[in-house]
Amino acid sequence: MAILSTKFKIVILTLLLGVFVSACGGSTGEVAPTTAVNTDAKITLDGKTLLEERCTACHTLDRVESASKSAGGWGLNVREMVGKGAELNASEQEVLIEYLSITYRYP
Ligand code: HEC
Repeated sequence: MAILSTKFKIVILTLLLGVFVSACGGSTGEVAPTTAVNTDAKITLDGKTLLEERCTACHTLDRVESASKSAGGWGLNVREMVGKGAELNASEQEVLIEYLSITYRYP
């Protein structure tokens, strides 16, 4: 009888543990994608935000807004500005160059 009741306790504990684990697993499953989305949003800033945040350290946006360049021209410009000290990694440069090429396109 003692063995049976121990087994019974183990069964109950296992069931309870199962409920807790699945409850935790469920909430973790909900949190993980949200965190991933937030991280993605931080990594892939859009061109407008990059321009406003990284291109205003040394001059105002007048420089940019009064310019119009081809995609190649903006490519050269952004690389030149990175050479001067603008803080943009390779993929941020790509995003920004595309945004500038569309927004301030050489006619
Ligand atoms: C580290 C300082 C610095 C940062 C950051 C910076 N610039 Fe400049 N920028 C300059 C200086 C200095 C000049 C003027 C020198 C010149 O005309 O070559 C200039 C001039 C310009 C010009 C006018 C000259 C041209 O070639 O048409 C444009 C457009 C420009 N910057 C765009 C940008 C963009 C876009 C960014 C963001 C990626 C940026 N700048 C970030 C320093 C900076």
